[in-house]
Amino acid sequence: MSVTVEMAHHVTDELVAGLNHLLPQLSSSAPPLTTDQVAKLIDSSAAALFVAREDQRIVGTLTLVVFAIPSGVRAWIEDVVVDGAARGRGVGEALMRAAIDEAKGRGVRSIDLTSRPSRAAANALYLKLGFEARETNVYRFFIENEM
Ligand SMILES: CC(C)(COP(=O)(O)OP(=O)(O)OC[C@H]1O[C@@H](n2cnc3c(N)ncnc32)[C@H](O)[C@@H]1OP(=O)(O)O)[C@@H](O)C(=O)NCCC(=O)NCCS
Repeated sequence: MSVTVEMAHHVTDELVAGLNHLLPQLSSSAPPLTTDQVAKLIDSSAAALFVAREDQRIVGTLTLVVFAIPSGVRAWIEDVVVDGAARGRGVGEALMRAAIDEAKGRGVRSIDLTSRPSRAAANALYLKLGFEARETNVYRFFIENEM
């Protein structure tokens, strides 16, 4: 089966359903996306939502976020997930390569991402593509804790 990767430019029911099929395979706590949320994501100039297809069917996604800060134009890759039934066939790698190409085209200096050590497949994928582990602390501030 051949894999194609595209950047999503239009919200369709098929896109929303495809993302909502994939999201629980990444995070059990992420609520389903609404059409409006997907539309906002696609409309954002900072974010590029990629989808991978096999035989037209959506089988994977990731989001590239590009932003300018004083030290340069930087990027993050987030929410990388491939359908359980389509893993091990190069879909994740094709998505990542498309995102890296897009980042290069946008003049990005570096791309960051995080991945829990228990995500063995993901960590192996990132290392294979040339990502290097950095010695840094990762913090998160939960806005809802403030309320
Ligand atoms: C991580 C994930 C996206 C990989 O997608 P995939 O389409 O199966 O990966 P690919 O087939 O493109 O594999 C590319 C490379 O990834 C690594 N890899 C993929 N699956 C692997 C596995 N089960 N074990 C070890 N390495 C693996 C290999 O380096 C592989 O290269 P190789 O085929 O030359 O050995 C997929 O497993 C997934 O969605 N996992 C659940 C969600 C997740 O962990 N997301 C990442 C969040 S940080």
